[in-house]
Amino acid sequence: MDKQDIRDIPFGRPLIGEPEFKAVEEVLQSGILVHGPRAKVFETDFAAFTKAEHAISVASCTAGMHLVYYALGLKPGDEVIVPAQTHTATAHAVGFTGATPIFVDAEAATGNIHLDAIEAAINERTRAIAVVHFLGYPVRMDSVRAIADRHGLFVMEDAALAVGTYYKGKHAGTLGDAGCFSFYPVKHMTTAEGGMILTNNGDLAERLQRLKAFGLDRTFDQRTQPGIYDVVDLGFNFRMNEIEAALGIEQLKRMPGVLASRHENYDVLAAELADMAEVTIFPEPAGKKDADCVNSCYCLSAVLDQKLVDKRADIVNALRAKGVGSSVYYPMPVPLLTFYRQKYGFSDEQFPVALWISRGAISLPVGAHLTPDDMRYVARAFKQAVSEVV
Ligand SMILES: Cc1ncc(COP(=O)(O)O)c(C=O)c1O
Repeated sequence: MDKQDIRDIPFGRPLIGEPEFKAVEEVLQSGILVHGPRAKVFETDFAAFTKAEHAISVASCTAGMHLVYYALGLKPGDEVIVPAQTHTATAHAVGFTGATPIFVDAEAATGNIHLDAIEAAINERTRAIAVVHFLGYPVRMDSVRAIADRHGLFVMEDAALAVGTYYKGKHAGTLGDAGCFSFYPVKHMTTAEGGMILTNNGDLAERLQRLKAFGLDRTFDQRTQPGIYDVVDLGFNFRMNEIEAALGIEQLKRMPGVLASRHENYDVLAAELADMAEVTIFPEPAGKKDADCVNSCYCLSAVLDQKLVDKRADIVNALRAKGVGSSVYYPMPVPLLTFYRQKYGFSDEQFPVALWISRGAISLPVGAHLTPDDMRYVARAFKQAVSEVV
């Protein structure tokens, strides 16, 4: 690859244009930075996009999951089943309430929670099952629902990477009892920081709206006299502000185009890498589409063969030298991170599939800031990087 051919391909880049600039400026000009109309509009729009009955805007996906568990009344002694191969937020959200996350290994085909292992982890202390749509690939939610119903458990979908993820025609976040999304900058759409909870349970939605705003008995616009309210719950301040919501409204309008572009990019990259014997492609290898499962195409993870794992840093550096940014989803199974390892004494052998993914993954970009031709470049650069270090 000649120097003049080197492209600049970051792992993620938010698509911010004139509509976002204008929307944010309007908020700033209005002087109404919280408690305004935009958070409500964004909730209505996001509910319409996902066909959810209720959407509750929050400060982040982590805040959303924390809020849901808090609303459920989780307490020390309670347990929640969580996947080992995820972001630490999935488990932290359980821990904030004093409850214990019970980690289940990943399945090798998709990186999602191993469905067959869930039931063995359930006991009389279990209150909920949390699933993560790994890299935007849907968990088979009918199986999760069936297990949860057999044991009377709540189902949480960590849908942080799942705007545009569908299972059997239903959007992620509407298949469990609650689903939480992230609008962090490298996600499908961004509000800088921000999140959204979906639920089809009206009582839960009402309680979440109250608990995200100090537990006040009435919202800003329900007050007949300014400044007069009562407090009926021990609530947080997890609100989304108007600047974030204004961004979210504009970003959501981009989603059909963004998702089409991500799908095209993913398919091109997966096809280009399909002949590489040294890697396993996650979450959806080329030619392996399942009609029930629509991937939101967050990124494409190439998991290196055992014999190449020690060379990962060299491969990533060689890729970077060719202008290709990458990431690792996720760098360590959560139970093996220092905090969880020390707290619960986990060891590597307990999570072999999650560990294999964490040690071998190089997560490649497929975002809408890139074109199919960029994907062919990424594939070429990746193959060259691998051949340079072996
Ligand atoms: C699966 C998963 N859950 C939760 C989060 C946390 O999201 P937020 O930063 O919006 O709290 C992330 C962030 O990447 C994630 O990947």
